[in-house]
Amino acid sequence: MDEHTLRKALSNIPLGGLRYFEQTGSTNDVALAWAASGAPDLALVFAEQQTAGRGRGNHSWFTAPGAALALSLVIRPLPGEARSASLFSALGALAVCEVLAAQGLHPQIKWPNDVLLNHRKVAGILAESVWTGATVDSLILGIGLNIKPAALPPPDQLSFPATCLEAELPLPRHDVPAFERVLLLQQILQAVRYWRGLLPTRLFLHTWERRLAFRGEQVEIWFDDLPVRKGQLDGLEPDGSLRLLSPQGQVFTVQFGEVHLRPVV
Ligand code: BTN
Repeated sequence: MDEHTLRKALSNIPLGGLRYFEQTGSTNDVALAWAASGAPDLALVFAEQQTAGRGRGNHSWFTAPGAALALSLVIRPLPGEARSASLFSALGALAVCEVLAAQGLHPQIKWPNDVLLNHRKVAGILAESVWTGATVDSLILGIGLNIKPAALPPPDQLSFPATCLEAELPLPRHDVPAFERVLLLQQILQAVRYWRGLLPTRLFLHTWERRLAFRGEQVEIWFDDLPVRKGQLDGLEPDGSLRLLSPQGQVFTVQFGEVHLRPVV
């Protein structure tokens, strides 16, 4: 997708600016630097290829040329949004889900924000906030969506099974041409704007909860240096933290952070 096509396709969306790269290290890094030098709300960084894409928990994120969507949005939280800062990564996941659902697919969210199709990860979200004292000054919402098989990293670099949009579309819709990639991007940006306006309403939480993967199933939760906890995935608390039931039937919750979740097999 070239810069001209992209600018034209996004001209109706009130972005705070657009920086396009055929290749860059990480769009989140570009957006962080741009935010530090005053990027306005909804400034968008888009790259056809990332050479140092970043995922959560210091993982790398692979973005092969033309095979994926890799974008980062600068969000300048409005006064009322600052206390919902932790929900912005879910906002990214929800926006991607709603766009995929409109394609007739059944996306789910592996809490907090991995987007799955058929229990395989198709998109990841990396939300990073920049604080000035106790205030969130800006938030970078990075979204990576695998579209073509070439978007998938080598299997030995995967921490969870992965897939791409093309592999999940019903035949004969197994090819996503470039113009459809632009449309998907357009729709994701519109969905981000729409769901952002609904933060932190019950509708937002309810829609996120309905999309949760492994609901009612046994899952394992672990933090990098804390032991695994097992429980039945019950739902979401009003602040977006995860509610589980212990084997003894007690409710416990898990907050955001470097948390990992997987189903018990
Ligand atoms: C994850 O699932 O671990 C999060 C992956 C986030 C990847 C996107 S691609 C665009 C943006 N730039 C980055 O370096 N990372 C995010």
